[in-house]
Amino acid sequence: MDRKEFLSLLGFSTASAALVSCLGGCKKDAAASAANTTGPAGVDFTLDISQPANAALQTNGGYLYSHNIIVAKTVNGDYIAVQQSCTHEQFTLAYEASQHLFYCDGHGATYSETGAVTGGPAPRNLTTYKTQLSGNMLRVYS
Ligand code: FES
Repeated sequence: MDRKEFLSLLGFSTASAALVSCLGGCKKDAAASAANTTGPAGVDFTLDISQPANAALQTNGGYLYSHNIIVAKTVNGDYIAVQQSCTHEQFTLAYEASQHLFYCDGHGATYSETGAVTGGPAPRNLTTYKTQLSGNMLRVYS
């Protein structure tokens, strides 16, 4: 008797067997995700905002991703930086300057411009980074 026949005798369908299998695996995946939702540590890099690749940072409301961090220029012209991955399940965040928030398409989490959770299933605030503009050089650091 093979596994399928055995499960059939017990009244298990293939779908229920898959569900049982997923329950154990999904729990493990969720634990792994939770352990990896912090932003990078020891950050210290510089972006030349005069370069075309960084042009988004010349416009209020613009943003880009660098070193697993979102670097943004608010509608008020301030530079802010937070981890780019959601603290829920690591989906990549987007910045919505007009709403003054970071948004996750995964399950709808929102964060303020200071990284605080403002909605959705996110379990904790975003890691934030300091910024310092000197001429065209924008330093982002821990
Ligand atoms: S991954 Fe962002 S809300 Fe779930």
